[in-house]
Amino acid sequence: MGSTLEGTLQPGHDTILILDFGSQYTQLIARRIREQGVYCEIRPCTDGPPSTLETTKGLILSGGPSSVYDDDAPPFDASWLDLDIPVLGVCYGMQLLARNAGGRVSKAERREYGFAQVLTTASPLFESVSGSTEVWMSHGDHVADAPDGWSVIGGSDNCPVAAMARADGLRFGLQFHPEVTHSKEGTQIIRNFLFSICGVTGDWTMGSFIEEQLRVIRQRVGSDHVICGMSGGVDSAVTARLLHEAIGDQLHCIFVDNGVLRKGERDGVAQEFSELNLTVVDARERFLSGLAGVVDPEAKRKVIGNLFIEVFEEEANKLVDSVGEIRWLAQGTLYPDVIESVSFKGPSATIKSHHNVGGLPERMRMKLIEPMRELFKDEVRLLGLELGMSEDRVYRQPFPGPGLAVRILGEVTPDRVALLQEADAIVDQEIRGAGLYRDIWQSFAALLPIRSVGVMGDSRTYEQTAVVRCVHSTDGMTASIVRLPWELLERMSNRIINEVRGINRVCYDISSKPPATIEWE
Ligand code: XMP
Repeated sequence: MGSTLEGTLQPGHDTILILDFGSQYTQLIARRIREQGVYCEIRPCTDGPPSTLETTKGLILSGGPSSVYDDDAPPFDASWLDLDIPVLGVCYGMQLLARNAGGRVSKAERREYGFAQVLTTASPLFESVSGSTEVWMSHGDHVADAPDGWSVIGGSDNCPVAAMARADGLRFGLQFHPEVTHSKEGTQIIRNFLFSICGVTGDWTMGSFIEEQLRVIRQRVGSDHVICGMSGGVDSAVTARLLHEAIGDQLHCIFVDNGVLRKGERDGVAQEFSELNLTVVDARERFLSGLAGVVDPEAKRKVIGNLFIEVFEEEANKLVDSVGEIRWLAQGTLYPDVIESVSFKGPSATIKSHHNVGGLPERMRMKLIEPMRELFKDEVRLLGLELGMSEDRVYRQPFPGPGLAVRILGEVTPDRVALLQEADAIVDQEIRGAGLYRDIWQSFAALLPIRSVGVMGDSRTYEQTAVVRCVHSTDGMTASIVRLPWELLERMSNRIINEVRGINRVCYDISSKPPATIEWE
């Protein structure tokens, strides 16, 4: 079995590899490790061991939904276990270690999800951990008998073998999940594995990442020119800053004003990134005439996506005329997208579409440069700060590529865009004013395709309705509503109705995702 990620390791850094067996917590393990200043990578469990260990100091086998005895248990190359480095199996990973060493795994009497109290015994894995520690369990199977040569180092009422260790101190198993914050001393356990057992140095900092990336980018790009599509969002902005730091004016950024941006967005970007060789393309009319008469959400997305590629390509060609061939396209691809595309659950065909400037790299024969493909979102934010970017930019809430068009239900007209921009700006000001902006995943206004009757002064009004939407989320896949104080909601509503001529009613969206989505279209 080949190693799909061979060659992406951060050179020279002590590295922990995590083999992913499909647990919902695998990325969490990686984050916990990187929080300790230790570089780690996730590989699909179908990978074979790397040909050389050099900087690989330890291996973690993740949890997973299968049973080790299932016919469809994920394939696993057992030669990983011949490596002379410490190995920690978590949940399914522990059961795999047990089975491979001749132990017995069986169905637990009752499945266990939630808190458990584990009594620990002396072990390097439990250094400075309490004798009775609260942990998070989530399993159906468990290890019934530890293999010969292993000892039980932790147990709970429902799970007598909750932790085990091989006598030579190189193999450990935990039935519980140290990576979730519910495991009170999980971080200490992870630290013990990393620093005492694997002996890593913890030398992976954002500063060292930047230095290395600057070197790698300069080396790859040489004297070539690079183009970067700027959306104003965190990922593309940090990518552009990093590239600019590395190659200065060889970087060319393009920002397209598609007419459905938030209020002040274009000016903000133009100002903040003016020294980045930034071309601001005013394509408002083109997009708005493309959107005229279109009400179907998917059709709107198509119009915007296609026009974006058209405009971007035209601008790229203009650049070619002035600076010569452009060999590279820079993109803000992040690690979760990379992991998603190598997961053993089956490679998803493409990286998420919003990271792709659809087909352009192939058409223009450009190579991709993705300096953040090994980073998580929170690390990208740190990177941005380290590069001197403003907190405002770095902690921005996500904003969809198709912009306000998917928040204007019904037809997108210049008038309706202007109405929504004003209402949305008020929501933004009020949320920021209340100190809530950074606690909230997204907060915005949408415009409904209905009119309702109201009264202002002595006159009857018949105007449009705005909806305020505020949600908590960690990754946009699920979301719950933010319980805003009534006073804040009332102030937003009053301000929108009084200050935005054309809106006479404001609603608050109280739908979670699922079944609703975060955006209205
Ligand atoms: P939904 O509405 O599907 O959104 O619950 C989930 C997250 O994705 C964002 N979103 C998009 N981002 N291009 C993007 O770059 C898009 O077409 C797009 N559609 C939705 C949305 O804002 C939320 O954060």
